[in-house]
Amino acid sequence: MKTIITNSFKETQELGFEFAQKLKGGEVIALHGDLGSGKTTFVQGLAEGLGIKQKIISPTFIIMRTYTISNPQSIRQAQDGSAIHNFYHVDLYRIEGEEDVEGLGLLDLFDDKENIVVVEWPEKIENLLPSTRVDLYFEYVGDEEREIRFT
Ligand SMILES: Nc1ncnc2c1ncn2[C@@H]1O[C@H](COP(=O)(O)OP(=O)(O)O)[C@@H](O)[C@H]1O
Ligand SMILES: [Mg+2]
Repeated sequence: MKTIITNSFKETQELGFEFAQKLKGGEVIALHGDLGSGKTTFVQGLAEGLGIKQKIISPTFIIMRTYTISNPQSIRQAQDGSAIHNFYHVDLYRIEGEEDVEGLGLLDLFDDKENIVVVEWPEKIENLLPSTRVDLYFEYVGDEEREIRFT
């Protein structure tokens, strides 16, 4: 487990940006942590690192937002020639349980090399998420400090 302390929201965005460079396509990324621990801030950098130009806003009232990478070839190319085309930002803060995501088609997004799926509040649908996901743990340390742990 790696532990990183960031000292500003910008540093957390940068961490997300760097994290994006390692993605191959098909990853499901679970972001654990309380409100305000920096999950969405991390996603902003991650999306930028994937070549998404739109600003990432918290999809709290909308469970999922879809972002299309308009020019994936120029950004990254997986070994098998595929590329990441779609980025899905899922925020389950407001849902009660698994039944609330039934209509979303979430499961169809997993295990597809063209997709990256990021999930905030993943524990709400723990049993639906693939066991091969990437887990990151966010914690509030102080006003401008956050701790982020991942393997
Ligand atoms: N080191 C830091 N990393 C991330 N966010 C920080 C940091 N320091 C302060 N913040 C602020 O904390 C808030 C984190 O909010 P957000 O990323 O939406 O959290 P979450 O999605 O986990 O609820 C933002 O207002 C951000 O500017
Ligand atoms: Mg959030």
